[in-house]
Amino acid sequence: MSRKPIIAGNWKMNLLQSEAKELFEGIKSFVKDYTAPQLPTVIIAPTFTSLCAVNSVKCDCGCGGNKISVAAQNCHWENSGAYTGEISVAMAKDAGCDYIIIGHSERRQYFSETDEMINKKAKAILAGGLIPIICCGETLEQREAGITDEHIATQIRAALSGISSEDVAKSVIAYEPIWAIGTGKTCDSVEANRVIKMIRNVVKDVAGVDAADSIRILYGGSVKPSTIEEQMSQSDIDGALVGGASLKADSFNEIIANTMKVAV
Ligand code: 13P
Repeated sequence: MSRKPIIAGNWKMNLLQSEAKELFEGIKSFVKDYTAPQLPTVIIAPTFTSLCAVNSVKCDCGCGGNKISVAAQNCHWENSGAYTGEISVAMAKDAGCDYIIIGHSERRQYFSETDEMINKKAKAILAGGLIPIICCGETLEQREAGITDEHIATQIRAALSGISSEDVAKSVIAYEPIWAIGTGKTCDSVEANRVIKMIRNVVKDVAGVDAADSIRILYGGSVKPSTIEEQMSQSDIDGALVGGASLKADSFNEIIANTMKVAV
């Protein structure tokens, strides 16, 4: 089964609107020369305040703007109401998003997000017609204690609980070992592929073989232009969720270019 690769940039809490627009323009001008199936699905996740700014420079005049999808970095599971500081799926959609990242380790760690909350968000995103990018990953302590697989399987089972096989099939998972995020220490590609295969088996168990074959599972954690080819050469790694290296057009575009060398 061939799955279309995804290269997604998570800008985290960086860039003012003018900077976000400038970086988006830099990516647009690179992708405009490529088309699917060669070009992977390119997704950019700016801050909430820059969602409309980047969407204002998306267009289909041939500038490449229509070749980049936009993601929110989080959402609430309710449609509206007294949830100060939150945004709903409908609001993210209204701001031009097709995807929403949920369960990033930084949200789990600093904002106490639980598996149950992530499951509610995933359901709300799918009900709203958008696609969740569900993050999972282990700490260094969990890896050293030998409980990586068990921990990640628990996260994935909880996140996908009660979701139909059709909806699971179109969802995206990002495996991001916490010890590899922002540290420059990339997880060995063979090991990342092993964990991603294990995740695919969990998906098979909860949603069936078709969903497991279709779902795209990304690797994240210090992805760089120099690491992506080896990562994309693995059987089960369907793309990357990129943090630091997505904040410069040169490095992000090189990651896209190197992905195309492998996944034609
Ligand atoms: P880095 O690429 O900076 O390690 O960040 C990865 C990440 O957290 C993407 O969501």
